[in-house]
Amino acid sequence: MTTTTPAQTGHHDAAWAREIRRLARERDAVILAHNYQRPEIQDVADHVGDSLALSRIAATSPASTIVFAGVYFMAETAKILAPDKTVLIPDPRAGCSLADSIDVEQLRAWKASYPDAVVVAYVNTSAAVKAESDLCCTSANAVEIVAGIPEDRPVLFLPDQFLGAHVQRATGRANMHIWLGECHVHADISPQALREKAEAAPESELFIHPECGCATPALWLTGTGDLPATRTHVLSTGGMLERARTTNARSVLVATETGMLHQLRRANPSVRFDAVNEHAQCTFMKMTTPAVLLSCLARGTTEVVVDLDVAARARRAVDAMIAVGTASAVGE
Ligand code: 13P
Ligand code: SF4
Repeated sequence: MTTTTPAQTGHHDAAWAREIRRLARERDAVILAHNYQRPEIQDVADHVGDSLALSRIAATSPASTIVFAGVYFMAETAKILAPDKTVLIPDPRAGCSLADSIDVEQLRAWKASYPDAVVVAYVNTSAAVKAESDLCCTSANAVEIVAGIPEDRPVLFLPDQFLGAHVQRATGRANMHIWLGECHVHADISPQALREKAEAAPESELFIHPECGCATPALWLTGTGDLPATRTHVLSTGGMLERARTTNARSVLVATETGMLHQLRRANPSVRFDAVNEHAQCTFMKMTTPAVLLSCLARGTTEVVVDLDVAARARRAVDAMIAVGTASAVGE
């Protein structure tokens, strides 16, 4: 699993960064940052990674406090995995349009129509939705999780329709029902933009997050020869980093939230990484600024609380998630 430790960059030496490190030591806190955070937040964190890697660190870290520089469902997942630790989120308004696309009542109604189904929830869901689910997954292990479900059991996959389509294609599973949710940032990375950028840079590799609106069309275009089959890879953000370290390509087009470019450029400075859509920015992820992180550490706010019963029920699904998958790549 790919995570990185703090960068030796200018950010890390700035006065605000030194103060953040001092406050973190004082609180016995570990700072986890998702790959979509602002570059300066990534550089001051203890660990930077994808949802799966950060969940695993939350579950095993010896620190008594976890500061989650990410969005709310990620901090909630950390609290589910580490109920005895204090989990802080720098700005509790950092939500997720994808997680908001299904609530617990909608899930209960859907389950009632498929009483025999196994419910697989993407990690981008509320704790209440996880508690109503059998298994949880991230983009790094969704294919393996669904492939492990007995063939004769129908699967309800939620909430992301594009990741669901990718998993269905990769597993060849006919009895899979997919919720029609989407992330507004990834849905806006269109097949047209991908095709135009790929035509203008024909030697480039393509890294595509499976939440993107362009993920399925891209694989279809590899079949027609319009995109290079051997150079088109559907990957979680952690999978992108692993591939970035070993690629022979001189340039890569990246279809995901643009915060990812910072880690990719650090991982392999000899490769040129460009966004397929430069405007693909998640405002929720960018809410963690240095000032907000400083205030979080100084004041111990905002603490994430998950109802004990909800947490205990969600834990079964989340434990299954962190147990599956050693590699971050979801398919190539
Ligand atoms: P990863 O699971 O690849 O980190 O992506 C998650 C995502 O889109 C977070 O919003
Ligand atoms: Fe949610 Fe999309 Fe932002 Fe990820 S990029 S946190 S899926 S809104």
